[in-house]
Amino acid sequence: MHSLFHDLGARVPLIQSPMAGAQDEDLAIAVAQAGAIGSIPCANLTPQDLQKSATRFQGATTGPLNVNFFCHPVTRRDPQREALWLNELNRYYDDLSLTPDYPTNAYPRALDSDMVDVVCAVKPAIASFHFGLPTAAFVNRIRATGTKIIATATTVQEALFLQDNGCDAVIAQGQEAGGHQGVFLQMDATNRLPTLDLVAQISAVLSIPTIAAGGISDQTGIKAALAAGASSVQMGTRFLKSTESKITPLHRSILEGSEQRETTITNVFTGRPARGFVNKLIRDIGPMNANVQAFPLAISALSPLKSATEGSEDFVSLWAGQNWQIGETKPARDIVHDLAPAFDPN
Ligand SMILES: Cc1cc2nc3c(=O)[nH]c(=O)nc-3n(C[C@H](O)[C@H](O)[C@H](O)COP(=O)(O)O)c2cc1C
Repeated sequence: MHSLFHDLGARVPLIQSPMAGAQDEDLAIAVAQAGAIGSIPCANLTPQDLQKSATRFQGATTGPLNVNFFCHPVTRRDPQREALWLNELNRYYDDLSLTPDYPTNAYPRALDSDMVDVVCAVKPAIASFHFGLPTAAFVNRIRATGTKIIATATTVQEALFLQDNGCDAVIAQGQEAGGHQGVFLQMDATNRLPTLDLVAQISAVLSIPTIAAGGISDQTGIKAALAAGASSVQMGTRFLKSTESKITPLHRSILEGSEQRETTITNVFTGRPARGFVNKLIRDIGPMNANVQAFPLAISALSPLKSATEGSEDFVSLWAGQNWQIGETKPARDIVHDLAPAFDPN
């Protein structure tokens, strides 16, 4: 059942979610050394950064590496939409005595040709994509070096699209998932299926493996996903509570605290729907705001507000999946060892 993952050299068919802004290769190395698949998120990296991270990874372990990219359309600045978005945020600029500003922010970036050159040189076991796929030319170049291609689907229609366009496996991302929802054909994220339902529906129609993602944080969740038809799972939030994740002390204290915090799907931090802890900005103008700038341009106008309120959570995205309370903080190696028996067929 797990042949794709065993072929890639994974003893445990578990992928640590790539989590841009929350980790670097330290987490990927620890996961791969423990026998699962370690991921390097590249949305905030330059091609040189990726080369450096991958060299460190490959020097530390022969375990499988997944490199991950966003595939959002490149959006041009639109003064009218910038004005609408600034209008939503003006009251905060006023409160903080700041001049409304729209600094340019180069990240997150979509996959481009220079990055593809590095991926082809690094030859990771897997390249994974969020928000659809890159051009067929990029997919073909990466596949030609032996790297497997996987991507996120949030509906059956998206899963079939990915299968028809060169994917070796599909990540079925349910609504419980932390971080950005990988929607790309159907952008309405309010109408999403829970992970187990999505896995059952997608695995029933695909001829390639289904990887379950969203709200899976322990052995019970893994077994349920496998029973629903998944060949493997991808887990993110569980690894936020690892000693190797690179999250702020604020984010860590919420994840480790006993306060009953809610998560929701919101577009107010980036312009695309993503699940995170409910905080002031979401309560005031979200969770879904029609005036938000397109991804990723919405992020820029929030930067001055974040800088002026450093240490506060009011304007900061705090991504987390719905099952964030499960599990204690420990080294990623121990998390993988705790979870591995769930994949044992006996
Ligand atoms: C903090 C955080 C950052 C994320 N960043 C990315 C990313 O850069 N690329 C990506 O493909 N998915 C990203 N995701 C989504 C994951 O791939 C995956 O769908 C999710 O972790 C599964 O749900 P879970 O967090 O409940 O395990 C992120 C998730 C979290 C929690």
